[in-house]
Amino acid sequence: MKLRNYLLLTLTASIGLPMMAKTSSPIIVSTDDTEIVMTVAENGNLVYNYYGKKFNNVNPYLTKQYREQPDNGAGFAPQAYPAYGGFVTITPALKLVHADGSHTTHLKYDSHKVTKTGDGVTRTDICLKDPLYNIALTLFYTSYDKENVITESAMLTNNEGGLLTIENLASTYLPLHADSYYLTHFHGVWATEMQLVEEQLHPGIKSVESKRGVQATQTANPAFLLSLNGPAREDSGDVYGGALAWSGNYKLTFEQDECGRMNVVGGVNDFASTYHLNTGESLTTPEMVWTFSNEGRGKVSRNLHDWIRNHALAHADMERPVVLNSWEGAYMNFDEKTITDMIDDAAKIGVEMFVLDDGWFGNGEYARNSDHAGLGDWQVNTQKLPRGIDYLAKHAVKKGLKFGIWIEPEMVNPKSQLAESHPEWIVKSGDRDKLQIRQQWILDLTNPAVQDFVVKTFDDVLALSPDISYVKWDANRFVTDFGSEYLPADRQSHFWIDYTKGLYDVYDRIRAAHPEVMIQLCSSGGARLDMGALKYHDEFWTSDNTNSLDRIRIQNSTNLFYPAIATASHVSTSPNHQTGMMAPLKYRFDVAMSGRLGLELQPKHLNEEEWGFAKEAIATYKKIRPIVQFGDLYRLKNPEDGTGWASHQYVAKDGKEAVFFAYSLKYHGRTTFFQTRLKGLDPNKQYRITELNKKDWPSFYGDGKVFPGDYLMNEGISLGIGNNFDSTVLHIQEI
Ligand code: DGJ
Repeated sequence: MKLRNYLLLTLTASIGLPMMAKTSSPIIVSTDDTEIVMTVAENGNLVYNYYGKKFNNVNPYLTKQYREQPDNGAGFAPQAYPAYGGFVTITPALKLVHADGSHTTHLKYDSHKVTKTGDGVTRTDICLKDPLYNIALTLFYTSYDKENVITESAMLTNNEGGLLTIENLASTYLPLHADSYYLTHFHGVWATEMQLVEEQLHPGIKSVESKRGVQATQTANPAFLLSLNGPAREDSGDVYGGALAWSGNYKLTFEQDECGRMNVVGGVNDFASTYHLNTGESLTTPEMVWTFSNEGRGKVSRNLHDWIRNHALAHADMERPVVLNSWEGAYMNFDEKTITDMIDDAAKIGVEMFVLDDGWFGNGEYARNSDHAGLGDWQVNTQKLPRGIDYLAKHAVKKGLKFGIWIEPEMVNPKSQLAESHPEWIVKSGDRDKLQIRQQWILDLTNPAVQDFVVKTFDDVLALSPDISYVKWDANRFVTDFGSEYLPADRQSHFWIDYTKGLYDVYDRIRAAHPEVMIQLCSSGGARLDMGALKYHDEFWTSDNTNSLDRIRIQNSTNLFYPAIATASHVSTSPNHQTGMMAPLKYRFDVAMSGRLGLELQPKHLNEEEWGFAKEAIATYKKIRPIVQFGDLYRLKNPEDGTGWASHQYVAKDGKEAVFFAYSLKYHGRTTFFQTRLKGLDPNKQYRITELNKKDWPSFYGDGKVFPGDYLMNEGISLGIGNNFDSTVLHIQEI
């Protein structure tokens, strides 16, 4: 007998575990190319056997050979959802204090059911119970066949007849076994979001988390890659992609244990978040979105982009308009004519949507002329805009544009009528002074009255004009000294979860009432970018950093998970307002055109030559827009790898067209040249390549010529883009 089996049997016998004979067939959650396998062990544990590439023929876990292994499902095998208790000593997915004060929980398989919930979408619900305590833990796995995505969440129900204290209730647990593990995660700060780090994990615990609420993704993002047996490669190797769909505090732990196993636990952060359930009550976690690829991280991105476009983004089949946003072009210093002039210019240059940013509301001493006053008072500033928003929106429509408007409805300036009339609505820790960030406080969304106010704000703002078709929803600070006047003293730790649930209730109500409106997800740029919020929105403001050179890296990281159609990417002025860097207009357009193109400038500051270039580039973008917004992303050169170039391609779903982008990130010397192979084309087809946004001369020697797909994907192309701020955009069309 193998030593391990002997140890397990001895332990089992000596500790006297109940040997439940509850075995059933494996539970298999599968997509077109991947599968999760779980089995019920003899002791009743639900064992997590496998998540990876789908087996070729018969799933081996269905065979007699596997089921007869002597250690099948003994106490140490990883459980699908490890609760603290028994042999579980890793960071658990579940930690409870039962009504009688006990800290241990043993979850045993009870039942499961499989339901087809849509075309290619299946839900598997697995119910686990503790033989000693009357609780039920239900795991929900939803599998999306063609996108190869599986989401997981959990629901805990208390039927103990007393108060249940939840110290941790994770969305997901994943055990993996490999020789080495490499984690790609992201750090950042305002205007420097999504800075990529890839590191090898070692024994011990690595955690990625937020304790900030509201701006939970400014300093880190709940999306990550986990690569086995080496750093993540683009087109080969086993890579897991995970992203938590939650817009509040989160925690992802990666724990390499004494067996060399990697244990991933992800969900709402347990920090200061103890949650109580009375008997009969339930708590459901947010979803963890998983995908697996044995063809590198490129496929992880394409899987997630498809899933977001098919299941987690508003109006995902609609081409996004080219936007002019007023912020960097006017800030809060505008009057009616400033805005109508901008709209007129926007119309002339080919823009399709004008968005009026911050500064249009508040009156008298609370006029929003700076960030010191006005937040909360959502009435039009009659001095700046005497004929109201409707006049501006109608003006835009008359010029052939749509009209959008900015709001920040969760926030309040101390200098506002709202702060004076509803001090009880403001997040605070008892009598402690409330800290201000950007001169503002946060409204307490745990309070239903505040939720109603935010919904009403949205309704009232839309009622300013029937021609408002887009709303930019901002949130410019994080939570400090949390606390709620609404929640009772012994429920203050519910704040973090209830705030986010309150936000989602608000989003649900708004979406039900205004299904047609486009909404941009913004929080000082990308400080609230997660799959939970994204599904209510049409797009996100990627970063307040509009400097093209920085945007290449920010967008590259962001687009590992989130698709180009939702990545608002605006051409701003030079020198750049955030960084002071100067960059040619062509470079700025070439970068912005690889996302959802927009402008973030005062058009009248463009000189004649720039105006002509911008107008043509916008017209060009409209031609390639369906490929960028609906195509498959292939990364060709990684801006993080130190070569000083970045390049990627979007390929239309039918494979007939592609758009190629390449950027130089530094001066390369006279003799080094850019070379790359293209991807995603048909080797047996011929393609004409046309260079777009050409400035003085083409950077591609084959501009206008025809090449076999085979040549493009094996020999590749070279470009003359060796200087700082050189860039190339190519349109590749099958002939
Ligand atoms: C932060 C956003 O990211 C900016 O685009 C702009 O809307 C400002 N807030 C306005 O206050």
